[in-house]
Amino acid sequence: MVYNCVQGRKVVKMTIPSRIYLTGFMGSGKSALGAEIAGALAYAFVDLDSHIEESVGLSISDIFEEKGELEFRRLEQEALAESYAWSRIVIAVGGGALAQIQNMEEALQKGLVVYLSASVQTLLQRLSGSDTIRPLLKDNLDFGDLMARREPVYKKAHITFSVDNLNVTDAAEALSQRIVSYQRDG
Ligand code: S3P
Repeated sequence: MVYNCVQGRKVVKMTIPSRIYLTGFMGSGKSALGAEIAGALAYAFVDLDSHIEESVGLSISDIFEEKGELEFRRLEQEALAESYAWSRIVIAVGGGALAQIQNMEEALQKGLVVYLSASVQTLLQRLSGSDTIRPLLKDNLDFGDLMARREPVYKKAHITFSVDNLNVTDAAEALSQRIVSYQRDG
């Protein structure tokens, strides 16, 4: 997307990357925030888990149950590869997708990656109010441990944005600004 930006007394043409990936732990608000950001930038929005569910014809929890986590991870990688051909789009990816270093490195080349960071307390609070069935939460998941393993990879994102203490509207406004100024200021 090309837009005009005033720098001093000059108006310069700036571009926003065609693909914006939102990553982060379950409960960080990737889908809700992604839809808002897409609206603000006049981009399309895709939730990659919903895309996988539609292509396979099974819910994420049924994929885990019937095909296993390994097959889910393969489908996730396949969907990510498919997304590299999409444009003018915000893509919310499942929490495990860009926690894999190869996937993260590829996504960093193909688009702008945003990590939505949140404290364990915020995440647990949000997940307790969610209706989505998350297979990983069924087996007494050690949340802090998984978070500690994933965070070093998440932090390779171009932008780390903390969603603690922010509602969706305020977070979307602040993050849209960060995305636009990231292109300008790096
Ligand atoms: C997962 C997160 C889920 C979903 C699947 C696995 C994970 O997506 O992809 O249950 O490994 O963290 P959300 O992050 O949207 O909950």
